[in-house]
Amino acid sequence: MDLTLLELDRKLDRNRAEPIYLQLYRRYREAIAAGRLQPGDRVPSVRSLASELNLARGTVELAYQMLTSEGYLLARGPAGTVVSQGLENLGGARPKAARKPAALTLSMAPGMSATPHPLQMGLPALDAFPHKSWARLAGRAARTLDTSVLGYPDPAGYEPLRREIATYLGISRGIACTAEQVFVASGYRGALHLICHALLRPGDAGWFEEPGYPIARRYLEHMGMRLKPVPVDDEGLNVGAGVRRAHDARFAVLTPTHQSPLGVALSLPRRLELLQWASREQAWIVEDDYDSEFRYHGRPLPALKSLDRDGRVLYTGTFSKVLFPGLRLAYLVVPEREIERFQSIAQQLAGACPILQQRTVAEFIAQGHFARHLRKMRALYAARRECLVDTLTDMFGSRLHVQPQAGGIHVAAYLNAGQDDKPIAAAARARGLAIEPLSSWYMTRTSRSGLLMGFTNVVDARHAQRLASTLKQAFDDVAGG
Ligand SMILES: Cc1ncc(COP(=O)(O)O)c(C=O)c1O
Repeated sequence: MDLTLLELDRKLDRNRAEPIYLQLYRRYREAIAAGRLQPGDRVPSVRSLASELNLARGTVELAYQMLTSEGYLLARGPAGTVVSQGLENLGGARPKAARKPAALTLSMAPGMSATPHPLQMGLPALDAFPHKSWARLAGRAARTLDTSVLGYPDPAGYEPLRREIATYLGISRGIACTAEQVFVASGYRGALHLICHALLRPGDAGWFEEPGYPIARRYLEHMGMRLKPVPVDDEGLNVGAGVRRAHDARFAVLTPTHQSPLGVALSLPRRLELLQWASREQAWIVEDDYDSEFRYHGRPLPALKSLDRDGRVLYTGTFSKVLFPGLRLAYLVVPEREIERFQSIAQQLAGACPILQQRTVAEFIAQGHFARHLRKMRALYAARRECLVDTLTDMFGSRLHVQPQAGGIHVAAYLNAGQDDKPIAAAARARGLAIEPLSSWYMTRTSRSGLLMGFTNVVDARHAQRLASTLKQAFDDVAGG
């Protein structure tokens, strides 16, 4: 092997904004791309590399996992981890990701980057995932395949998982529902896909939060929906403005617990007003409850669905923030009288997340790991959020107004009036920070200017300092033209 530990150690720069696991990952990719590591070469074990370089084991594990999942390394159990065979046959064209410079990867649609980047929104803490318990349950799920799992799966999802989800929602979100009402979907877009096919038609008009989640917006537009932007203020979606704009809309899509991205909660009067509108107009409300598990001040708010007496709310949740987005596992709770319609639509569609993953998640919840993991993550995220917010406030003073949000996994920091967020976000992205400009979350030109940042992977105050310094350089890049 031509990549010595000494060389690796020299190349890891603890003062850079880029986390060490990403630097390690890149060093390996470069060494493989340059042929300094050859197919079949054995790489040091996680334990020995961590101890040689004086790193946490989780840091090395994370870099190795990324390299393995992208096909650079092959884990052979007790025989150790080696550089994958077959890379040499690709000639110069090694796995695509290896050749992309950071700025190119960051130009992908926000939130869609395959490789995690500093301050990227929507990611849970990747260094805190409970690998051991997950691996044990995933192994058991694969070893104990009975006939109920080997055949064609229920298109609505694995029944034990649907039961666990129904119980969890009852306890933690105040939603009284049965397992039959729960449909497992392939991510939030999978849930929207079911809704569009079961209840909507191309050309239907629908309220969409302004600003709102661009991935859902693009998906709904792709499905032919005519979206009407409805402004969000301090009380959440302005229902009165929605009624004035399009009282006869067929649906409304919103994030009532923790508005994405501004972080406000929909007030109780607005909740009641919205439910009344939906009942009156026989419209559908799509409640996107994507990160409600994380709340750092006050009591968790019950879901809007818990107030839904007339069965107008379609409730969606996801495991992307509480486990990991690669799972592609979300769920949809439909009103009782719509169960059959959704069952027949689910039968026509491609199906949800693979059954073994669903089984692993069901066991993960049933055995109490999920509740434990959530408890730990709430404490960890509260600390990481404080690190980032305090550092930004100290370093930027009146240039950046960091909005303290009560929950969630990202912060919004507003810029001063007249300052354009797009060039600053672009300069930050060119420097490797996956910051998103708030203005790109608006459909219309009347936007507020700000920067959106995920804090879950900001590991400590020193890391926050490095990231904030890099952001400061991005500000200087823009100021210096
Ligand atoms: C507003 C919002 N809704 C839903 C989701 C969940 O999407 P998915 O389940 O496809 O990962 C996200 C993820 O970032 C989000 O930000």
